[in-house]
Amino acid sequence: MKTQLISLSVMAFAGAMFLSSFNKAEPPKKTKLADDALIKKGEYLVGILGCGDCHAPKMMTSQGPAPDPALGLSGHPSAIPMPKVNKEALKDWALFFPTLTMSVGPWGASFAANITPDATGIGSWTYEQFKIAMTQGKSKGIATARPLLPPMPWQNYVNMKDEDLRAVFAYLKSCKPIHNVIPQPISPDKL
Ligand code: HEC
Repeated sequence: MKTQLISLSVMAFAGAMFLSSFNKAEPPKKTKLADDALIKKGEYLVGILGCGDCHAPKMMTSQGPAPDPALGLSGHPSAIPMPKVNKEALKDWALFFPTLTMSVGPWGASFAANITPDATGIGSWTYEQFKIAMTQGKSKGIATARPLLPPMPWQNYVNMKDEDLRAVFAYLKSCKPIHNVIPQPISPDKL
């Protein structure tokens, strides 16, 4: 009787071990599929939201500006020297550099950020930081930092659903990291 009880409990233990190892083996597969779906959704959202309009450096073609595929969403190319600003034109115009990653206006000069997952981009960012940048318009996603400058249209994203913002973040984090240190903005009096 006692031996029977022991062997029963051994069997129950082995069964539990089997089940728990089975349970352990399952989630990674499901998580991978969920991640892939999230990244796909993020890619779609980044496309229709037009993040690349400013964050993707453009090459000038006969058809107009086209994103340079090698540079992804790496922001204003740091190798480009700051051109002289025509202050006369600024009285009537806001101006874009032909890459469409740098612009000048009453806010001074601003440079589209590197939003690839490199250390010079959003590589070390947490989702919480990203949410603060996108919905509160704060530099580096730090609540006490300076407000993000135009033309970053963060006001458009204030009501973005958490699930959509997470998808955008997952997609950006899945992109190729591109090293590019973005220049600091220039205030209007320093132009
Ligand atoms: C019309 C141009 C434009 C569009 C469209 C745009 N951005 Fe930006 N974005 C900028 C500029 C310019 C900056 C830098 C502003 C600054 O330095 O204050 C910026 C900054 C950011 C930052 C903050 C980076 C940092 O280092 O603090 C993030 C994150 C960001 N953009 C993500 C996005 C995403 C994601 C999208 C699409 C959903 C998007 N942006 C669409 C122009 C744009």
